[in-house]
Amino acid sequence: MIRCMKESKHLLIVAHNPSANTQKLVDATLRGARHEDIEGVEVKHIPPLQAVADDVLRADAIILGTTENFGYMSGALKDFFDRIYYPCLEHTEAMPFAAYIRAGLDGTGTRIAIGKITTGLKWKAVQESMILHGEYQPEFETQCEELGMLMAASLESGII
Ligand SMILES: Cc1cc2nc3c(=O)[nH]c(=O)nc-3n(C[C@H](O)[C@H](O)[C@H](O)COP(=O)(O)O)c2cc1C
Repeated sequence: MIRCMKESKHLLIVAHNPSANTQKLVDATLRGARHEDIEGVEVKHIPPLQAVADDVLRADAIILGTTENFGYMSGALKDFFDRIYYPCLEHTEAMPFAAYIRAGLDGTGTRIAIGKITTGLKWKAVQESMILHGEYQPEFETQCEELGMLMAASLESGII
């Protein structure tokens, strides 16, 4: 009997987590993406300083996570883009992605910067980058969990 095995889709989470709170956001995103009802989606978190172009080339969708520092994305996420931009350009067109931004005050500078770089890459935003700003709220974890679930479920169902 020939059994037809469906190949797994790959959801890559490239998220910077320099604090206890941002670690909770990564954990929540992973929890949502690995929801027990979602099948056939492999989920991997790689911190931006460790992620390489091959990780992006293997991915079917990406979630970016960053803090806002000095009105911009973290240096770690910027370094990731600096390294993967040209190796991925022309090979990752229409990559579905979403982003969450943890900002003490604002977050819009980071949202704009991510928008410019991903537009250059011709990636496809699944939703507007999510800004989690102000004093830390446990609600942020719910939002990240929902984002992880949305992206994984959308990959599972072939919507993205
Ligand atoms: C060096 C530095 C620069 C920062 N710059 C900004 C900024 O420009 N805008 C902003 O909203 N928050 C800024 N923050 C706050 C960080 O976004 C915040 O500390 C980070 O998201 C971690 O949040 P947490 O306290 O919930 O762990 C900055 C923090 C640091 C350490």
